[in-house]
Amino acid sequence: MAIETTTDDQPAEARAEAQQLTTRILELRDAYYERDTVLVSDEEYDRMMRRLEELERLHPELQSQDSPTQTVGGRAQTTLFAPVQHAERMLSLDNVFSLEEFEAWAAKVERDAGRRVDYLCELKIDGLAINLRYENGVLVSAATRGDGVVGEDVTENIRWIPAIPARLATDEPPALVEVRGEVFFPVAEFEELNAHQQEAGERVFANARNAASGSLRQKAEGKNPAQLELMRDRLRRLHMLVHGIGAWHNPPVDAQSKVYDLLKGWGLPTSTHFRVVDDAAKVDEFIEYYGQHRGAVEHEIDGIVIKVDELALHDELGATSRAPRWAIAYKYPPEQVNTKLLDIVVSVGRTGRATPFAVMEKVRVAGSEVRQATLHNQEVVKAKGVLIGDTVVLRKAGDVIPEVLGPVVELRDGTEREFVMPENCPECGTRLAPAKEGDIDLRCPNAEFCPAQVRGRVEHIGSRGALDIEALGEVAAAALTQPRFPAEPPLPTEAGLFGLTLADLFPIEVVVRDSETGLPKLTDAGEEKVDTPFRRRRQKKDGPFDPATEEFSGDELHVPSKNAIELLANLAAAREKPLWRILVALNIRHVGPVAARALANHFGSLDAIRSASRDELAAVDGVGGIIADAVLAWFEVDWHREIIEKWAADGVQFATPGHPGPGRADEAGGVLAGLTVVATGSLEGFTREGAQEAIIAAGGKAASSVSKKTDFVAAGPGAGSKLAKAEELGVRIIDAAQFKTLVEEGPAALDS
Ligand code: IVH
Repeated sequence: MAIETTTDDQPAEARAEAQQLTTRILELRDAYYERDTVLVSDEEYDRMMRRLEELERLHPELQSQDSPTQTVGGRAQTTLFAPVQHAERMLSLDNVFSLEEFEAWAAKVERDAGRRVDYLCELKIDGLAINLRYENGVLVSAATRGDGVVGEDVTENIRWIPAIPARLATDEPPALVEVRGEVFFPVAEFEELNAHQQEAGERVFANARNAASGSLRQKAEGKNPAQLELMRDRLRRLHMLVHGIGAWHNPPVDAQSKVYDLLKGWGLPTSTHFRVVDDAAKVDEFIEYYGQHRGAVEHEIDGIVIKVDELALHDELGATSRAPRWAIAYKYPPEQVNTKLLDIVVSVGRTGRATPFAVMEKVRVAGSEVRQATLHNQEVVKAKGVLIGDTVVLRKAGDVIPEVLGPVVELRDGTEREFVMPENCPECGTRLAPAKEGDIDLRCPNAEFCPAQVRGRVEHIGSRGALDIEALGEVAAAALTQPRFPAEPPLPTEAGLFGLTLADLFPIEVVVRDSETGLPKLTDAGEEKVDTPFRRRRQKKDGPFDPATEEFSGDELHVPSKNAIELLANLAAAREKPLWRILVALNIRHVGPVAARALANHFGSLDAIRSASRDELAAVDGVGGIIADAVLAWFEVDWHREIIEKWAADGVQFATPGHPGPGRADEAGGVLAGLTVVATGSLEGFTREGAQEAIIAAGGKAASSVSKKTDFVAAGPGAGSKLAKAEELGVRIIDAAQFKTLVEEGPAALDS
């Protein structure tokens, strides 16, 4: 039967449908296995399974390992591993997806219990459920969950996992205890494993869970010694954490949290991330805390599990056929989703690097909408194995940049096509080439005139860390370097920036581009977005222009747009900005605000920097050999020197007024001479950068981290680890008002 395709973009509907299918399929399985009753035709059963599989592929967040698609209860059983019957059934968990749903669940629990209860909150580990059977303290079998009744015997493989004891550390072990937990790859191990796989030219795993399942379900038979060692190496990297018990006659404790204490004492691995609370509202805090900090946990989590702590209540509340009533899983919004890879486009950035980007059907992941993700270079595209038209797995964790993990190969229909890296720059047509032999990255060598590179550099000049020109953002940069109209750009290169006049700015129309990918932005109607950033306003001679109606009659007068006037005014003011900002604006490789400040402070003028030797440059605190080489290389290029000449002719100031000359700034003193100050948090009256500049202007050293050499830490609201470090080291901490005194009058004024 053909798989129906669907364009579901309604996760709620999909969830409801998946839940219905799950319930129905489990009922059918129950009937079949427990009562030998066949309720529907094989075709009907298979159709439901396929629909569920499809829903889970489209919405991976719906798939849990207890889904019928993940269990071996189906009719086509795999026989790779011997079946093992669990002494007690392995149940699954019901899910809630919001705090309201959780609170409703808790209210019902407390109603049924007839009193308030304590809750144990812990992490829902995204791994593989395992049942360890210990008889008289000895591990006799380890099995996957299977259909909950019968699992797969993976005892031999489990023995390689270091965290799992073969024998319990107790003199009085129970005759039988089933310990349940989750097997997983810690994130760090997983990343290392994938790096190895990639190096060895093997396929990389889309996520840690698949990798864990694949590693645990390997067979030793038929492997040569080298392969066997590889398999064991992978098993050794796996970890396990206990999250429950199965069969155990009369456990000697009365709470789930105490079970963990006991098991921990027996040498079993238990999690440190848990808390027992006496109120459902406190569960919310736990959920929120880990929602913010899930990236800091050593393993992947897909939610929180909340359990009634008291064991007697477990019996009292009981379970449905699927899940206990005394526990619930709170699922976080997924960090991984599937979407369609519509295209792979190549964009050229400020440095000329040609980067392929994935353009995808827009999806929501980890709370934000994603449409594009970098694929880094043509080799990465190959390694990921994605084809244009593929359904791909997209990951975005918290604030982390979205990443395409790989294709869902099963969903291919033959129309997908391979990405071919273009041979020429998509913006200027110059043949792409590696900067030096052996480089993977390809670059456009037309650095001076390639419109993409000029646009990137001009945008950089306007950016916060350079000249900080409000009116020179991404649209203005594109308009000046790549207008749709007129045909000739006002700025073929940045050399003319400070010579711009109003006449240059008049009629420009530009296609708005995404500053990260360089791709045209689209309107809701799917057309390229066009802007006219410097369009002139029309004004009636004898009255103010009404921008709301843009209506007028009679005589008119054309006046330039506010943007155009602002840009020119900003540029005029920027000519006298501090030398370090001008240095950053020159787009010298590796010379960002930190290095630029160091160079400007030490040398005081561009001429002095230009005539310095490599050793003199490298010796400056905060500069070093790599930056020194980059500075020297930059001055070697003719058109770079022409920029300086043109800018100087247009009034740009390449020196710090009053600077005493190379290496002599320290002698000149200042109230903070010889002192190192760290500013952290928000200091009233100063921007972050303003605080740094104030320190430097007073002759001090503005450091970014606290050490024993730090003299003062100025801390405002939001100060975090630096403040803690200062306290730990006993560095003097001052507030915003004291900081103001310090930079204006020096340290003595603080104590007067
Ligand atoms: S308790 C009867 N606790 O999630 C209660 N399960 O989606 C059974 N899981 O089958 C499980 N972390 O494999 C529990 N802290 C945790 C868990 C956890 C992960 C898995 C477990 C379960 C599945 C349900």
